[in-house]
Amino acid sequence: MILVTGGTGLVGAHLLYHLSLENDTIKAIYRKNSDLNAVKKVFSYYTKNYEQLFSKIIWVEADITNICQLESAFENISKVYHSAALVSFNPADYKAMRKINIDGTSNIVNLCIANSVKKLCFVSSIATIEKIIGNKIINEEGEWNIEKNNYGYAITKYGAEMEVWRASQEGVDVVIVNPGVILGAGFWHNGSGLFFSKIYKGLKFYSKGITGFVAVTDVVKIMIQLMNSNIKNERFILISENVSFKNVFDLIALNFNKKAPSIKVTKLLSEIGWRLDWVRSVLTNSTPLLTKQSAKSIHNKHYYSSEKIQKALNFQFEKVDDTIKKVCKLYTK
Ligand SMILES: NC(=O)c1ccc[n+]([C@@H]2O[C@H](COP(=O)([O-])OP(=O)(O)OC[C@H]3O[C@@H](n4cnc5c(N)ncnc54)[C@H](OP(=O)(O)O)[C@@H]3O)[C@@H](O)[C@H]2O)c1
Repeated sequence: MILVTGGTGLVGAHLLYHLSLENDTIKAIYRKNSDLNAVKKVFSYYTKNYEQLFSKIIWVEADITNICQLESAFENISKVYHSAALVSFNPADYKAMRKINIDGTSNIVNLCIANSVKKLCFVSSIATIEKIIGNKIINEEGEWNIEKNNYGYAITKYGAEMEVWRASQEGVDVVIVNPGVILGAGFWHNGSGLFFSKIYKGLKFYSKGITGFVAVTDVVKIMIQLMNSNIKNERFILISENVSFKNVFDLIALNFNKKAPSIKVTKLLSEIGWRLDWVRSVLTNSTPLLTKQSAKSIHNKHYYSSEKIQKALNFQFEKVDDTIKKVCKLYTK
């Protein structure tokens, strides 16, 4: 049987939906405060038959940092999709990210080895891919340098990848995917979901930074194809196109029939912005929306290549403007 971690997040919910189309039962872990209705909602975006497909999931309560809870989730499991992670650019979350992203992945790897799991698919990120400044195209081969990538999320996702490579040394076949910014429906209050909800409500700011974007539906289709293939012990960048945040924001605004964000965030403005937001977060005891790291990264221009996965699976990515059109439609549904 298949086990999915992170099934109550953007990637995991879409993965569960696609797996439910092809499998009679799937096991997925959840936590006490996980929102299972958000997963059902994602299913309902794509089919009228969502209750029946959703009922194929056997939910097991388990935190990936709790090995005892995880042990029972691993009963009768032959394939594991590991998508659970803490995604944050807030330095205050670094310790928690180390625990969940690295130690949690170590637990998953240890249980894969102990239970002779056949294959493990790990969702990493382009954060762990070595960056090249300028217009050079980035692929999977660059040597990652902690000195240049020293922010918490990247360090912990890289540490998690190291754990996954350990699994491959211990006889578990592994595949790692490194998606760019994932665009998808259903989780409008975090990650890229915020682009849609904020622009719908009239966001005025944009930046000219460039990065790789990919549809969540493509990410999960590729994960399933990789797991069903003979490909093993490889990692793959998943991006459809390298696009500026400005372009993405303009397209979202266009599809919502709203005014495009018109105030360019300069480096100076974002430097002031993250400091003010830090003060606001301390005074209101809330999570900062803009951090030192995110304020810096919105100006970076990075160009990624997904040639390796396109060749390996003969895969064609959905264009970013088509993805945005579909996600905007689902937002207003
Ligand atoms: N979104 C992106 O743009 C993007 C880009 C590149 C890579 N990724 C990677 O893709 C993966 C999925 O991201 P996402 O966007 O789907 O994230 P998300 O929506 O924030 O979902 C995170 C998932 O991880 C689960 N989780 C967190 N801590 C856990 C713990 N201690 N034990 C068990 N489950 C835990 C969450 O469960 P709860 O529901 O209980 O909180 C949720 O199901 C992550 O590994 C992320 O690093 C994401």
